[in-house]
Amino acid sequence: MAQLAERPTATLPRIGKQGEPCVMVIFGAAGDLTGRMLIPALYNLARADLLSKEFAVLGVARTAMSDEDFRKKVHDHVKEYCPDCTEDELWDWFEKCFYYMPGDFGDKELYAKLKERLNKLDQEHSTHQNFFYYMATAPSYFGSIVENLAANGLMDQNDGHWRRVIIEKPFGHDLESAKTLNKQLLKVADEKQIYRIDHYLGKETVQNIMAFRFANGIFEPIWNRRYIDHVQISVAETVGVEQRGSYFDQAGSLRDMVPNHIMQLISLTAMEPPISFDANAVRDEQAKILHAIQPLSDEEVLSRTVRGQYGDGTIDGSRAEAYRSEADVPADSRTETFVAMKLLIDNWRWADVPFYLRTGKRMPVRNTHIVIQFRQAPFVLFRDTPVEHLMPNQLVLHIQPEEGISLRFAAKVPGPVMRLGGVDMNFEYQQYFGKQPSTGYERLLHDCMIGDQTLFQRADMVEAGWSVVNPVLDVWKALPPRNFPNYPAGTWGPKEADELLEKDGRRWRNFEK
Ligand code: BG6
Repeated sequence: MAQLAERPTATLPRIGKQGEPCVMVIFGAAGDLTGRMLIPALYNLARADLLSKEFAVLGVARTAMSDEDFRKKVHDHVKEYCPDCTEDELWDWFEKCFYYMPGDFGDKELYAKLKERLNKLDQEHSTHQNFFYYMATAPSYFGSIVENLAANGLMDQNDGHWRRVIIEKPFGHDLESAKTLNKQLLKVADEKQIYRIDHYLGKETVQNIMAFRFANGIFEPIWNRRYIDHVQISVAETVGVEQRGSYFDQAGSLRDMVPNHIMQLISLTAMEPPISFDANAVRDEQAKILHAIQPLSDEEVLSRTVRGQYGDGTIDGSRAEAYRSEADVPADSRTETFVAMKLLIDNWRWADVPFYLRTGKRMPVRNTHIVIQFRQAPFVLFRDTPVEHLMPNQLVLHIQPEEGISLRFAAKVPGPVMRLGGVDMNFEYQQYFGKQPSTGYERLLHDCMIGDQTLFQRADMVEAGWSVVNPVLDVWKALPPRNFPNYPAGTWGPKEADELLEKDGRRWRNFEK
């Protein structure tokens, strides 16, 4: 047996617990997610000394490749992500952790071979029989791969070792299929072994929503219907559908973004304080919010949701083609690339406080933010002054690309008469804490290696997310859109999205460059 090199000291001092010894198996190792996200994230973990010295990765995919070919790919991916990172001693160790096995996920014999290979790697890398499997494949394989792993004893955890599986999104394409997938998985694995990933939970600023709310005494007392007028959640993207036309045209923005990413943002913003940071304590509170979202009746779907599809337009001075001209998109596609909705949460904290959300492709800027708009101060005092109206206070949680928090309030404009101007108090993450290289997957992979499920979705949460969007899917399917495309690329969506707030006397806050 070849002697493995000692791992050199990591580049950065370790903060936190080191991942446990394990083999990570990536199904779909030749794909985009593996190259762009998973491999750079593993490298960042190695640099931060958060990866066990007893670690290996086994890539599995249909593409024929040797270990050496795979290592070459790993090298290229890391180099692209971080050009200076592939020259040092740590790199030499890291590269040798990678192995590859070609195979067809539907072929039952693959799993017997996989077992053999895993046992060999386990011995060579002393990984204590701890294995986790990352499903970076097409969603149609998720259930059957896990069944095949279980049939070959690869999900058994009876000797003190662990076996876990990370399931990528989309988790189902509606409520029914999500339930079916949950059943299929839970037949052969325990909920504690299933890590349903939502990469939004890997973002620092998303995790900070909880820290901000619960580590500061000043915000929580006013975080309710008495002081908050409404909440806006916007996830704006400038990209179109890139190479993913065939997936996206089946999914649409509603399925792609709302039951998962946007539901995470809503639940973290609206949840009650959990009794601890224990995985189930946090997820119980998130789940309660998802269950408390008022289901939309058919009429409400018509009055409280908006869908859109982009036509030709201009973004940042460059011409952007219509969705219907994108690769692998039918020329008469009726798939939505924009969604806006008004939701209400039926509990004491939030009764009658609208949560407006919107997400779209080909918008003027890439910007994800949450606006908490407070109720207005009474105007009484200003009646006999030149001030015509008071502007509401807004607290904005900037998720990306700018990461920070800002508070907008009114201040007197200097001068002899009473005039008011809106000013912002800003906190920028980067300014205080610098910038750490991160793909957003580091924390999630590390959590899986230490068995922390807090940032992963439980079966009930995924189903609750789908329950919110299912009535919308049904009505939209029954009434196909007749006015697509209805917003030019490079704009903030169809005019109905503005009207959704205007009819309630409110306005979206748009952040331009
Ligand atoms: C993915 C969606 O889950 O999230 C994509 O499938 C979307 O369509 C992406 O572009 C957005 O992620 P991020 O991290 O760029 O906001």
